[in-house]
Amino acid sequence: MPEVTYISPDGTITTLEARDGDSVMETAVKNGVEGIVAECGGACACATCHVYVDEAYFGVVGEPGDLEDDMLDGAASERLPNSRLSCQIKMRAEFNGLLVRIAPEQV
Ligand code: FES
Repeated sequence: MPEVTYISPDGTITTLEARDGDSVMETAVKNGVEGIVAECGGACACATCHVYVDEAYFGVVGEPGDLEDDMLDGAASERLPNSRLSCQIKMRAEFNGLLVRIAPEQV
């Protein structure tokens, strides 16, 4: 199973094994990682699952889709070039080792 590592705003580092097809958001919420609110449950409608994808992985994970791109404009924390909504990143083998920083403000 691919691994994903989260860096929380307080500096806590958590590495988890994700089930193939589960999103980065779902993996965090199921395992009690703090800082991802996910108000809409993964419908790309709230922008409270904002993460910054480590630059080493951004090319692999790719750019946000159009809807996600619009939602990121309304995110509570600053939008950066490596911003993504974690509910829109579905884990798969190629993402093994993915590192994301959780945005400091989600609401
Ligand atoms: S959980 Fe709402 S946009 Fe990701």
